[in-house]
Amino acid sequence: MTDRPLIALTRRLPAACEQRVEARFALRLGDDDAVFTPEKIIKHAEGAAALIVTPTEQFTPAVIAALPASVKIISCVSVGFEHVDLPAARARGLRVAHTPDVLTDATADLTLLLILAATRRAGEGERMVRAGAWTGLRPNLLLGRQIKGLRLGIVGMGRIGAAAARRAQAFGMKILYHNRAPSDLVPGAVFVPSLEDLLRQSDVLSLHCPLSAQTKGLLNAARIALLPDGAVVVNTARGGLIEDDALIAALRTGKIYGAGLDVFANEPAIDPRYRTLENVFLLPHIGSGTVETRTAMGMLAIDNAEAVIEGREPPHPLV
Ligand code: DGY
Repeated sequence: MTDRPLIALTRRLPAACEQRVEARFALRLGDDDAVFTPEKIIKHAEGAAALIVTPTEQFTPAVIAALPASVKIISCVSVGFEHVDLPAARARGLRVAHTPDVLTDATADLTLLLILAATRRAGEGERMVRAGAWTGLRPNLLLGRQIKGLRLGIVGMGRIGAAAARRAQAFGMKILYHNRAPSDLVPGAVFVPSLEDLLRQSDVLSLHCPLSAQTKGLLNAARIALLPDGAVVVNTARGGLIEDDALIAALRTGKIYGAGLDVFANEPAIDPRYRTLENVFLLPHIGSGTVETRTAMGMLAIDNAEAVIEGREPPHPLV
């Protein structure tokens, strides 16, 4: 037993983060680094002053209501916070905080990786080599699309959208974007006030907006129909922004040339049809997955938790 305040982590963090918690607080880890059910979240929170959590843990109003009174803060190791019901937290007097900024570069890098993988058929090529099915260089082997000169439509010109846009400009892409308001973050990028107009002009579409009741299923069949034939779709934001039935149908007909997806509805139980499609490049939500970035995110989540435990304002509060 210890009198030190207890911080409970739902998922493991890079060692430096866990060591920092252990140096000042009592640390509780999950037993298997697997997705937490609501029941497991509540049990894990017993006696904890702070919970450090990831987007796979769902803090619904029911879960928040059932948390022990000891819990002062839900500290998200993520910029996204759709997994926490903020009004319910506010009503209970619980603080909620997140980790913006530090993941911008890593996520923007991965956006370019997905754009290149989808346009250059990297998944098909990798599977061919692994399967021993490569018969040698052929001029017609796995011809993809060159991205120089293509129009990249960005939905959500926030920090990550802008960082991805700047990288894409370096590859010679033309940037158009849809956002609540024009932004000066990316010189040369063209603001398109209507999402539908943006879709009509996007050879490559990249999603960078938060998931909310308003944006859920934003890329549906009607909107996919507006994209140019053979467009490419990439998503490093949240899976719920896309209607899977619609995207899968469009990938099958070739309306969508290819997709690069790092995020999915209902992770990790993704729609199994994606696994059967050659023209989709799949990653397991690793947009911010570099040692540097995940460590920085963990440290920021600890800063937030520590501040609230000590009665200070957290650096990145949501509630
Ligand atoms: C975020 O920060 O929201 C990411 O999706 C988690 O890496």
